[in-house]
Amino acid sequence: MRDDGSSSERSGTGGIDLHLDRRAGVGSGELAASLRTAIRENRLTAGSRVPSTRLLATDLGVSRGTVTRAYELLVAEGLLVTRQGAATTVAAVDSPVPERRRESATRRATELRWDLRPGKPDLSGFPRADWLAAQRRALRAVPAEELDYGHPAGHPALRGALAEYLARVRGVRTSPERIVVFGGYGEALGMLCEVLARRGVSAVDFEDPSLPELRRIAGESGPRVRGVPLDGSGIEPAGAHSPVVVVTPAHQYPLGITMSAERRIELGRLARAEDRLIVEDDYDGEFRFDREPVAALQRIAPRQVVYAGTASKTLAPGLRLAWLALPERLVEPVREHKANGDRTPPVTEQLTLAEMLRSGSYDQHVRRCRAGYERRRQRVVAALTESKVRHELYPAGIAAGLHLTLRLAPEGPSERRVLRRLRRHSVAVKGLSEHWMDDRLRQEGLVIGYAAPPGHAFGQALRALLRALTED
Ligand SMILES: Cc1ncc(COP(=O)(O)O)c(C=O)c1O
Repeated sequence: MRDDGSSSERSGTGGIDLHLDRRAGVGSGELAASLRTAIRENRLTAGSRVPSTRLLATDLGVSRGTVTRAYELLVAEGLLVTRQGAATTVAAVDSPVPERRRESATRRATELRWDLRPGKPDLSGFPRADWLAAQRRALRAVPAEELDYGHPAGHPALRGALAEYLARVRGVRTSPERIVVFGGYGEALGMLCEVLARRGVSAVDFEDPSLPELRRIAGESGPRVRGVPLDGSGIEPAGAHSPVVVVTPAHQYPLGITMSAERRIELGRLARAEDRLIVEDDYDGEFRFDREPVAALQRIAPRQVVYAGTASKTLAPGLRLAWLALPERLVEPVREHKANGDRTPPVTEQLTLAEMLRSGSYDQHVRRCRAGYERRRQRVVAALTESKVRHELYPAGIAAGLHLTLRLAPEGPSERRVLRRLRRHSVAVKGLSEHWMDDRLRQEGLVIGYAAPPGHAFGQALRALLRALTED
């Protein structure tokens, strides 16, 4: 992952969505048409560089000749400019797109140009070569019979590699037998809640604020969902009354705080004393920048904590790979429930991840990402501090993860207005207030993800964010 704000060797489609259906097979005509539209709609602005023919061809999975022909067509139309020895750039053209149409297009977050939504890693940094090499090694070694229907708990090789990795990197006390692999944390949480509901659990506590989508998944799986308020040290354990409590102790989502040592110990003690279950959502625990990460909460109460991890932040959400490290008593019920559903991620992908973990290339990739995300975070913090932005960083937020949280100044514009302004500047971020269950606790602010843009586009995305936030 590059992070210098310059045009990147790995830029692929250059951070713009070309709206191409790659499955249909892309010819030079279709590619030229979608580039034309991107230029006319100002998604590719005058003066900006287009990716090299080699990179765009690789990214789209087409021949280099296809991209060259598309570029030649657009040069002929005067939309692109080429100069010997220099990158091809977009020519200065008047946009014939009516104002109203552009307005409505920018309303959809997915169409906004600068993606600063939280929780998304830099997908342009996906370690394609490492993944392919690991897959090749894994496929060479796997006996044919292991390509049969997978084990409902996940392939033993992945469970073994995860048990070792989680113990080493997050201090989790587990074994391959206690790990179950899922198609994402959402699926894991849903199935876990279904199992717990069958065992008589009628309510689950979530931190308030937390991700509404996850609360919805839990609620649809049976139990009632309740909120527990937070302060700068995490939830007050005595405030949790349900038999199951879902927390994000390493890096609270969305506030970005970490649960204090005292609260962790107290939560573990209460869970043991009252035989409650804690679900530890360790979604971005690998990414702590200011110090070594604090070990997982699971370490101090392994019988009471379900530890949850995911590949969505370290590699890519599209892999749909996540895992639970379960207390002994839940292993069989969860395995059984999972076996009924026949929902296990593809064995080949599980084996590839296992091989990356085993060979050390996963660790290397995470280290690279950590360094890149840390630099990005520093740049955002420095830019916000130096600018006239009046919103303040969420006070107890730690230097970690893929996002940071801003509180809006009470005397300034409302969250709705700021979000509208950001959309006008084509910047996608998340509002903070939507994360609360209890209206009385609700605070206005922004949750800004700094990981999503490809390296070469990050500087521009940051400038667009600042422009929108400092606009009068
Ligand atoms: C708080 C939180 N937990 C967990 C996840 C991981 O979810 P999944 O593994 O389904 O991608 C996310 C992803 O956005 C998240 O924001």
